Amino acid sequence: MHAIVVYVLGVAGLLLLVSALPPLAARLRVPYTVLLAAAGIALGALIKGATVLDGLAGPLGDFFVSLSGLDLSSETLLYIFLPVLLFETALAIDVRRLMDDLAPILAMAVVAVFVCTFAVGYALWAVSPMGLVPCLLLGAIVATTDPAAVVSIFRDLGAPRRLTMLVEGESLLNDAAAIALFSLLLGMLTRRSDGGALEAALDFLRSFGGGACVGFVLGRLACLLVTPVRDQPMAEITLTVALAYLSFLLADHYLEMSGVVAVVAAALVVGSVGKTRISPDTWVALEHIWKQLGFWANSLIFLLVALVIPHIVERVSWSDVGYLAVAVAAALAARGVVLFGLLPALSAFGLAQRVGHATKAVMLWGGLRGAVSLTLAMAVTENGRVSAGVQEFVAVLATGFVFFTLFVNGTTLRPVMHKLGLDRLSPVERAMRNRALALSVARVQERVGDLARTYEIEELAAQRLLDHYGERLEAIESERHAEAPLSEAERVTIGLVILVNREQERYYAHFQEGILSRGVVEFLAARAARTLDAVRAQGEAGYAKAADGIIDFSLQMRAASWLHRHFGIQRPLARRLAMRFEVLVSVRMVLRELRAFSRQRLAQVLGPDSAAELDGLLAVRLDHVEKALAALRLQYPDYATVLQNQYLGRAALRLEAADYRALHAESVISQEVLNDLERDIAGRRRALEQAPTLDLRLDRNELVRRVPIFAGLAPERAARIVKLLKSRLVLPGETIVRRGDRGDCMFFIASGAVEVLVPGLETPVKLGSGDFFGEMALLNGQPRNADVRALGYCQLLVLEEKDFWRLVRKDPSLRTHIEDVAAKRRAPFLPVKAVAVPAGE
Ligand code: CMP
Repeated sequence: MHAIVVYVLGVAGLLLLVSALPPLAARLRVPYTVLLAAAGIALGALIKGATVLDGLAGPLGDFFVSLSGLDLSSETLLYIFLPVLLFETALAIDVRRLMDDLAPILAMAVVAVFVCTFAVGYALWAVSPMGLVPCLLLGAIVATTDPAAVVSIFRDLGAPRRLTMLVEGESLLNDAAAIALFSLLLGMLTRRSDGGALEAALDFLRSFGGGACVGFVLGRLACLLVTPVRDQPMAEITLTVALAYLSFLLADHYLEMSGVVAVVAAALVVGSVGKTRISPDTWVALEHIWKQLGFWANSLIFLLVALVIPHIVERVSWSDVGYLAVAVAAALAARGVVLFGLLPALSAFGLAQRVGHATKAVMLWGGLRGAVSLTLAMAVTENGRVSAGVQEFVAVLATGFVFFTLFVNGTTLRPVMHKLGLDRLSPVERAMRNRALALSVARVQERVGDLARTYEIEELAAQRLLDHYGERLEAIESERHAEAPLSEAERVTIGLVILVNREQERYYAHFQEGILSRGVVEFLAARAARTLDAVRAQGEAGYAKAADGIIDFSLQMRAASWLHRHFGIQRPLARRLAMRFEVLVSVRMVLRELRAFSRQRLAQVLGPDSAAELDGLLAVRLDHVEKALAALRLQYPDYATVLQNQYLGRAALRLEAADYRALHAESVISQEVLNDLERDIAGRRRALEQAPTLDLRLDRNELVRRVPIFAGLAPERAARIVKLLKSRLVLPGETIVRRGDRGDCMFFIASGAVEVLVPGLETPVKLGSGDFFGEMALLNGQPRNADVRALGYCQLLVLEEKDFWRLVRKDPSLRTHIEDVAAKRRAPFLPVKAVAVPAGE
């Protein structure tokens, strides 16, 4: 038979098998990979005992022939499946959250890989006849964890998202770290280089860092390419597939850097930057396709490797079993040290969330190894430059290790969690569940009667159904009476969890409707996720603090403001402010929806008192948002209007599109007409998608005109003053002048208001548009005598010390005016006779 036909038959047959396994795994409640491995081994055993199959003819016989002849070279695994597997995992990571926790994740990933590699390596070296390098190589191979099993169980349990993120992020980066370490060790083994530890460390850094750079650059390039092919889903998705392979090959083959790190970096760039460029619909499709590709890669790697297990088993000796036991024990101990030693240390420094002992135990036991380890092991066994003894050692122990974790840890993970009580609803959750059940059963019971009448169903049948619901309701009620009633605080916490989840959902819903932009949604959704963790940890207090975080000025905003102040660069500040506008408007919209939701829905589930409490919390948040928005709008009223119009425009487009589709569904317009109309809408939507640029309105001419003491000046004098002044925008709450500092400039308020915290005065002195401050330090050469803080957004004009003197020398009347004001300000604090005007210069 033609070779290609044999191949296709083999792979298609395996895919058929793969398609049957997920439902079976769900039914048997075992992790999917465990079942996959079992199926692969069974198939391998069947082929090996080929005599049974000898008589088979036709497609089935050919299938088995094909499998026994399938040349599963490690290169197929490395170059075809591995890039897909890694790209898919990295794409699914929420980069923003990864960045939030980068320090603990990196520490966990990189440290854990090293600890495991060395623990396993040295333990095996001590007991086996192998050299140190092959033992370390094996350690690196088994240092990567496959999070799929643990993460899916965490999801079932509703574990804190940050914890899931830690596990996912760790396993992604530990793949990269372990593979980079693996390549280094393999190089040492094959090249017989003995460059020593320092050279090895430098090599590792070069390979890791270089790979990250390649991936980053290629990822950015791909994102640039996305824009011209915008709204071309097929083209965009294809581009990402090409990117996965090209970044791997370019780094690995041409530049001799870590291809794996390059793929991961490229995927992270696409997942963050690319996501904002690719349209939402396309992104959903892209995620589906990658999930599918990842599933195929993972399944085929497992099946192909499992097929050769029976051959390996044949060669296993008792000493191998002993080595395996040592490796497993060493790896477990290493992971234990990281989880129970490093993680608590990180939380002690506030770098990571506290993780309960039970959860840590699950993370320890759930450290399954997967496709990546198998692929690496294959790469060693097929490397001609590695001695046969080492090949055999790695093949037996690495596959043994992976399958041990799958069959022993994988199958016992759920019972272990059961023992630790992690799979039970907490009393609070059970009470919630019963409350929700009681409500919905009562509602259904009410409606069943109506339904029976509408559909003219027999009285008896309807009655039977009603009785059934009545019994359920009674059972639930009796269970509810038996349980301890929930305290008010518990109920409020439950309500908050519901509200935050709902909040996040609403942001996504508005995004799907095309009303919110992706950047804003991601920011808000990430904030909501963080709020959720805060509620879980600290209840109501956590909620208030975390939720108000949206209003605080972020680090980026401060950085933008710093750039503006010190280098006069306006763009980042304008962009940040524009985003703040959109964020505040969106939060306000969603908070209003949440209040309605809380009053209608939550009041039923949690009772009126808790609902009132929740409503109060929402009202406070809304108030803060309104205030922040009002302050911004006061400064930039036109921008607020532009933004509102844009929102309205997008909502209108959505209605228009729905209308056209309805007309088409009713056959009023043909497909061609619909296409034409939709193209038109797409064009207009693009125009509305760009956030309008925000003009900070810091034109000095304009600002100088707003200050009364300059307003009356002749044009050429005014022009000269304009040259001396610098404009500056300050944010609400920002301290402009600090008491005790040396004064080297003074300020004129073109718009906005500040408060002067005068020592000895109970209430701060407020200054507004047209006023000035910071003159005293210049006049008398003493340190600043008060703090001055911005009450809202302020446009200031800054006059440097030397320019101040130049100005007042030319214009004595200006000097007199400023001195008078300063004297008046100082007057109440001086002994009566000492009201003397300082001489100035
Ligand atoms: P300076 O001392 O340079 O820095 C702090 C500024 O606060 C000070 O200049 C004045 O401009 C302002 N300031 C100090 N005291 C008062 C006051 N009583 N009323 C209004 N402004 C004041």
